[in-house]
Amino acid sequence: MKTNNNTEVWTPRHIMDKMIAQIPDESYRGPVLEPSAGIGDFVLAIIDKKISIGMTKKEAIDSTFAVEIKKYNCDILKKRVYEKYGIEFRNILCCDFLKNIDKVKDFICKD
Ligand SMILES: C[S@@+](CC[C@H](N)C(=O)[O-])C[C@H]1O[C@@H](n2cnc3c(N)ncnc32)[C@H](O)[C@@H]1O
Repeated sequence: MKTNNNTEVWTPRHIMDKMIAQIPDESYRGPVLEPSAGIGDFVLAIIDKKISIGMTKKEAIDSTFAVEIKKYNCDILKKRVYEKYGIEFRNILCCDFLKNIDKVKDFICKD
């Protein structure tokens, strides 16, 4: 089991891939939100899924959204996306998802 020193537990990639496969491919063409993103394991897996169904890297990244309460996790997540795809990940809100539902809705529906 992957954890960090704050006892946060990250979902292993093979389980993430099984979860992602449960949802029809067409659903990945629209916006996808990870509401407790940690350091972005699901975010990377979702972006990979979007790319695998024919979206460009930019389309995949721009239609993936993340919320994470801890600033240092947000920073790691952004760095990981940039290191993997060479594109800045802007769709991240660093806040408490449960206390900011309206803000999160506006963030996803901004276009
Ligand atoms: C157990 S980790 C899981 C991370 C990732 N979803 C995964 O499955 O690998 C939970 C994450 O949710 C964040 N978190 C907990 N409560 C939250 C809240 N109310 N709003 C946003 N993020 C939250 C924690 O900081 C932590 O990074």
